[in-house]
Amino acid sequence: MTESLSLWAYPELIAHRGAGKHAPENTLAAMRLGAKHGFKMVEFDVKLSQDGAAILLHDDTLDRTSNATGLASHYSLTELLKFDFGSWLKAEYVAEPIATLNTVAAFTLAQDIHSNIEIKPETGFEAETGAKIARLARELWQDATLPPLLSSFSEVALAAAKLSAPELPRALLIEGEVPNDVFERLQRLECIALNIDDKFTTQALIAQAQERGYAVCVWTVNDPQRAKQLLQWGCKGIFTDAIDTIAPNLRF
Ligand code: G3P
Ligand code: MG
Repeated sequence: MTESLSLWAYPELIAHRGAGKHAPENTLAAMRLGAKHGFKMVEFDVKLSQDGAAILLHDDTLDRTSNATGLASHYSLTELLKFDFGSWLKAEYVAEPIATLNTVAAFTLAQDIHSNIEIKPETGFEAETGAKIARLARELWQDATLPPLLSSFSEVALAAAKLSAPELPRALLIEGEVPNDVFERLQRLECIALNIDDKFTTQALIAQAQERGYAVCVWTVNDPQRAKQLLQWGCKGIFTDAIDTIAPNLRF
């Protein structure tokens, strides 16, 4: 197991949803802004449209982050591409289209930015989403210097991803308190990392994970002092919205 930690080669600062809250989350506009601040790794949320296209979206519904409403899985990609995913945040982003796994792969590969693909299935579509996204990720990132890290709160989705593209590295996301059997879960899913909520992160937990060969990444860390402390404790990745104060360009 110590082998998997030695395989960890990702940057320590990760732009959450592209650029946190500074640009419309999970869009190419956000990725461009994150890249401008020097981020060499980006996290984004992916699910499936009605016609099985891999699209970037955090929520199940379109309501919060677009000018449309309803479940994303009720729309085809052609329909989704007509909506505005930018002006809900700032007028300057009007008509920003939904990003797809294809467009993000092209952008990140061209910019030499590493990716954490968070598989965010709609309830009931966990296995299908995990399998499809892993398959697409394998194809789209075949020329990448480092493979994309696949993560999910859904163990069903991660198990499906493991079957579909076993060679792609995986991380288990935990919502809330970290359960006692977390290391068995990581072992079962053959994960290389444990991605946890800052509120439930302790130095002892990071040390325990490290002893077992797992990298720990923490979300969402927006206080530079806390980010420094976590890195000192041995945390390998920090997901941040604060791209203006926690950024590679600041020699953080
Ligand atoms: O992957 C880390 C983080 O993105 C998990 O939470 O809700 O922001 O997708 P959420
Ligand atoms: Mg996420």
